[in-house]
Amino acid sequence: MKPEALVSLAIEAMKKAYAPYSGYQVGAALLCADGSVYQGCNIENASYTPTICAERTAFFKAVYDGKRDFVAIAVVGGKGGVLSGTFPPCGVCRQVMREFCDNAFQIYMGGPQGSFETHTLEELLPYSFSAKEHMK
Ligand code: THU
Repeated sequence: MKPEALVSLAIEAMKKAYAPYSGYQVGAALLCADGSVYQGCNIENASYTPTICAERTAFFKAVYDGKRDFVAIAVVGGKGGVLSGTFPPCGVCRQVMREFCDNAFQIYMGGPQGSFETHTLEELLPYSFSAKEHMK
Protein backbone atom coordinates (compact mmCIF):
# COMPACT_ATOMS: atom_id res chain seq x y z
CA MET A 1 0.00 0.00 0.00
CA LYS A 2 1.23 3.47 -0.90
CA PRO A 3 1.89 5.99 1.91
CA GLU A 4 -0.75 8.32 0.41
CA ALA A 5 -3.42 5.63 0.80
CA LEU A 6 -2.42 5.00 4.41
CA VAL A 7 -2.61 8.75 5.13
CA SER A 8 -6.14 8.79 3.64
CA LEU A 9 -7.16 5.97 5.97
CA ALA A 10 -5.76 7.94 8.93
CA ILE A 11 -7.85 10.96 7.89
CA GLU A 12 -10.92 8.70 7.72
CA ALA A 13 -10.11 7.34 11.21
CA MET A 14 -9.76 10.85 12.63
CA LYS A 15 -13.51 11.34 12.10
CA LYS A 16 -14.16 8.72 14.79
CA ALA A 17 -12.21 10.65 17.46
CA TYR A 18 -13.87 11.10 20.83
CA ALA A 19 -12.21 14.30 22.04
CA PRO A 20 -14.74 16.42 23.95
CA TYR A 21 -12.08 17.83 26.34
CA SER A 22 -9.18 18.88 24.11
CA GLY A 23 -11.17 19.24 20.89
CA TYR A 24 -8.07 17.76 19.26
CA GLN A 25 -8.96 14.98 16.83
CA VAL A 26 -6.37 12.39 15.85
CA GLY A 27 -6.50 9.44 13.45
CA ALA A 28 -4.04 6.66 12.71
CA ALA A 29 -3.77 3.85 10.17
CA LEU A 30 -1.35 1.00 10.89
CA LEU A 31 -0.12 -1.20 8.04
CA CYS A 32 0.66 -4.81 8.98
CA ALA A 33 3.17 -7.01 7.16
CA ASP A 34 0.29 -9.14 5.85
CA GLY A 35 -1.22 -6.08 4.14
CA SER A 36 -4.06 -5.56 6.59
CA VAL A 37 -4.67 -2.09 8.02
CA TYR A 38 -5.88 -1.15 11.51
CA GLN A 39 -7.35 2.28 12.10
CA GLY A 40 -7.46 4.11 15.42
CA CYS A 41 -8.63 7.39 16.91
CA ASN A 42 -8.02 9.15 20.20
CA ILE A 43 -10.55 8.41 22.93
CA GLU A 44 -10.58 10.89 25.82
CA ASN A 45 -11.89 10.59 29.35
CA ALA A 46 -13.30 13.02 31.93
CA SER A 47 -10.59 11.82 34.30
CA TYR A 48 -8.00 12.77 31.62
CA THR A 49 -5.28 10.18 32.29
CA PRO A 50 -7.28 7.22 30.90
CA THR A 51 -7.23 8.97 27.51
CA ILE A 52 -5.73 6.85 24.75
CA CYS A 53 -4.04 8.18 21.65
CA ALA A 54 -5.05 7.21 18.11
CA GLU A 55 -1.78 5.35 17.47
CA ARG A 56 -2.16 3.11 20.51
CA THR A 57 -5.80 2.40 19.69
CA ALA A 58 -4.64 1.12 16.28
CA PHE A 59 -1.76 -0.93 17.74
CA PHE A 60 -3.84 -2.51 20.47
CA LYS A 61 -6.65 -3.44 18.08
CA ALA A 62 -4.08 -5.10 15.82
CA VAL A 63 -2.24 -6.93 18.60
CA TYR A 64 -5.53 -8.22 19.97
CA ASP A 65 -6.22 -9.65 16.50
CA GLY A 66 -2.92 -11.51 16.64
CA LYS A 67 -0.87 -9.14 14.47
CA ARG A 68 2.76 -8.66 15.49
CA ASP A 69 4.54 -7.55 12.33
CA PHE A 70 4.12 -3.96 11.26
CA VAL A 71 5.44 -1.94 8.34
CA ALA A 72 4.22 1.64 8.76
CA ILE A 73 1.79 3.96 10.49
CA ALA A 74 0.16 7.16 9.23
CA VAL A 75 -1.00 9.72 11.79
CA VAL A 76 -2.94 12.94 11.34
CA GLY A 77 -4.51 15.33 13.78
CA GLY A 78 -5.66 18.83 14.50
CA LYS A 79 -7.93 21.00 16.57
CA GLY A 80 -11.49 20.34 15.46
CA GLY A 81 -10.15 17.89 12.89
CA VAL A 82 -8.46 20.65 10.89
CA LEU A 83 -5.00 19.54 9.74
CA SER A 84 -2.76 22.54 10.21
CA GLY A 85 0.75 21.10 10.53
CA THR A 86 2.58 17.78 10.40
CA PHE A 87 1.54 15.55 13.23
CA PRO A 88 4.25 14.14 15.53
CA PRO A 89 3.29 11.05 17.57
CA CYS A 90 3.67 11.50 21.34
CA GLY A 91 6.51 9.90 23.27
CA VAL A 92 4.34 7.22 24.87
CA CYS A 93 3.10 6.10 21.44
CA ARG A 94 6.66 6.03 20.10
CA GLN A 95 7.64 3.67 22.91
CA VAL A 96 4.62 1.43 22.20
CA MET A 97 5.70 1.33 18.54
CA ARG A 98 9.16 0.25 19.69
CA GLU A 99 7.69 -2.68 21.59
CA PHE A 100 6.51 -4.27 18.35
CA CYS A 101 8.59 -2.64 15.61
CA ASP A 102 12.21 -2.37 14.70
CA ASN A 103 14.04 0.88 14.08
CA ALA A 104 13.19 0.84 10.35
CA PHE A 105 9.42 1.09 10.97
CA GLN A 106 8.03 3.96 8.87
CA ILE A 107 6.01 6.83 10.33
CA TYR A 108 4.04 9.09 7.99
CA MET A 109 3.27 12.31 9.82
CA GLY A 110 0.34 13.83 8.00
CA GLY A 111 -0.33 17.51 7.40
CA PRO A 112 -2.71 19.70 5.38
CA GLN A 113 -4.09 18.55 2.00
CA GLY A 114 -2.76 15.01 2.18
CA SER A 115 0.85 16.15 2.73
CA PHE A 116 3.08 14.06 4.98
CA GLU A 117 6.64 13.66 6.21
CA THR A 118 8.27 10.26 6.48
CA HIS A 119 10.53 9.27 9.35
CA THR A 120 11.83 6.01 10.72
CA LEU A 121 11.12 5.02 14.29
CA GLU A 122 14.84 5.34 14.97
CA GLU A 123 14.71 9.00 13.91
CA LEU A 124 11.76 9.71 16.21
CA LEU A 125 12.99 7.61 19.13
CA PRO A 126 16.79 7.45 19.15
CA TYR A 127 18.65 5.40 21.80
CA SER A 128 15.41 3.55 22.47
CA PHE A 129 14.81 0.90 25.09
CA SER A 130 13.53 -2.30 23.53
CA ALA A 131 12.67 -5.62 25.13
CA LYS A 132 14.25 -7.56 22.27
CA GLU A 133 17.62 -5.84 22.65
CA HIS A 134 17.86 -4.98 26.33
CA MET A 135 15.97 -7.67 28.23
CA LYS A 136 17.44 -10.82 26.74
N1 THU B 1 -3.10 12.48 20.92
C1 THU B 1 -3.05 11.39 20.07
O1 THU B 1 -4.08 10.78 19.78
N2 THU B 1 -1.84 11.00 19.60
C2 THU B 1 -0.65 11.59 19.90
O2 THU B 1 0.39 11.11 19.49
C3 THU B 1 -0.65 12.84 20.68
C4 THU B 1 -1.93 13.24 21.30
C5 THU B 1 -4.39 12.88 21.46
C6 THU B 1 -4.55 12.66 22.93
C7 THU B 1 -5.59 13.70 23.30
O3 THU B 1 -6.87 13.15 23.09
C8 THU B 1 -5.37 14.83 22.30
O4 THU B 1 -4.59 14.27 21.24
C9 THU B 1 -4.67 16.05 22.87
O5 THU B 1 -3.49 15.67 23.48
